[in-house]
Amino acid sequence: TRTSEVDDLPHATKKKMADHLRRFETMFTMTPQRMRMIVEAFKDSLELGLSKSGQVVPMIPTYVFGWPSGEETGEFLAVDLGGTNLRVCLVKLNGGGKFEITQAKYRLTEEQKQEDVESGELSKDRILPLGFTFSYPCSQEKIDHGTLIRWTKGFGAPNTEGRDVVEMFRNSLSQHDVPAEVVALTCDTTGTLIASHYVNPDTKIACIFGTGCNAAYMERVRDIPKIAHLGIDPEAEMAINCEWGAFDSFEHEHLPRTKYDITIDETSNKPGEQAFEKLISGRYLGEILRLIICELIDEGVVFLGQNTYKIEIPYSFDTAFLSLMESDPTDELLMVIGIFSHFFALETTLAERQFFRALARLVGRRAARLSACGIAAIVSKMGYLEEGCSVGADGSLYNKYPGFADRIHEGLQDIFGEKGRNIVTHHAEDGSGIGSAIVAAMTKLRKDQGLY
Ligand code: GLC
Repeated sequence: TRTSEVDDLPHATKKKMADHLRRFETMFTMTPQRMRMIVEAFKDSLELGLSKSGQVVPMIPTYVFGWPSGEETGEFLAVDLGGTNLRVCLVKLNGGGKFEITQAKYRLTEEQKQEDVESGELSKDRILPLGFTFSYPCSQEKIDHGTLIRWTKGFGAPNTEGRDVVEMFRNSLSQHDVPAEVVALTCDTTGTLIASHYVNPDTKIACIFGTGCNAAYMERVRDIPKIAHLGIDPEAEMAINCEWGAFDSFEHEHLPRTKYDITIDETSNKPGEQAFEKLISGRYLGEILRLIICELIDEGVVFLGQNTYKIEIPYSFDTAFLSLMESDPTDELLMVIGIFSHFFALETTLAERQFFRALARLVGRRAARLSACGIAAIVSKMGYLEEGCSVGADGSLYNKYPGFADRIHEGLQDIFGEKGRNIVTHHAEDGSGIGSAIVAAMTKLRKDQGLY
């Protein structure tokens, strides 16, 4: 029974675990005041990124001008190179905010993340306009061009940073005789912003909480000083891909990093970079918990006398396990038993399972509350608090992690008080498929009108 299982741990061990939990609570909990300080620093970084190029948070002008009208039509290909999958979609925009989509998805292997990307097979009957979603920071001077600033999310293909990814993609398409013409390059966040607004015009911000973490929003051209020299109508609007995952990189002045976060950073392929993303995104949350567990193993607090080699493998603890642990509905925490026994050949007591679940909650909650800080920074910078706004959100964490959205909302209320309720996140429309197609259609319309 439950009591006997708890009781099977010596009293001293249980007390030690309770002490540890308190210690982790202190480490991973952020007060509203601390959150507000982060928001202020975040806002400054956003402003700085808009004023000068080459800043920590790059605030990339996307050359997506204004919102879609809903009347964009035509047939488009969309290719999305994300953090986990490569997806190819055929999108038919029918106007009136309606669309049809056919798609194929391929999971990328760890090797492919370090190699050149090759394209798949397509019918060669006609040349289709293609929207390329490439969700890594690229600086753009026009919509169908983008220089990769740096890889994120553990990618590391050599000889790509500093090069035009559209040109490389075009070469690859022509080598494989793919009958498509790249007309627009977008980031998943920009696509999500446009697609979400297409179906819900209250949307003003889009966020991705997946393998990576980032946001986009619509900015007034006059408030992007770094592109003033281009002579674009200052009253026009342009989507900004924030690349906010980079917030607090290198200096590490503002975010509450624990020693586990520091280990992740230092052992990553990009030490110092993506400081905000490393505390939030799905690529790292499982690893944070794994590092804590490994430390407790070393200290002799858990798994005494068991062979722990499996859990000692870096990145072996998937973030999906945290989701499962948090959502386990059984008293005995049977799903947690399953995770540890099946994937790591480890036996757990109920007390240990409760402890691990409490740890998962701390890590997951901190991620959501930090996400709220990012959203709050954009809201506060743009003055959206009074009138309220809708935030289109997508990504595995947002969609699958239990309570992630509620915790963001709770965080927004901690930051803004009651008015925080005016900011609501909702599951976004598919940005890299539909969004990218709409951007391609908007681009085509602008070209037809002889615009930039
Ligand atoms: C990383 C990428 C960014 C992307 C995000 C979510 O932060 O740098 O471009 O939007 O992941 O996929």
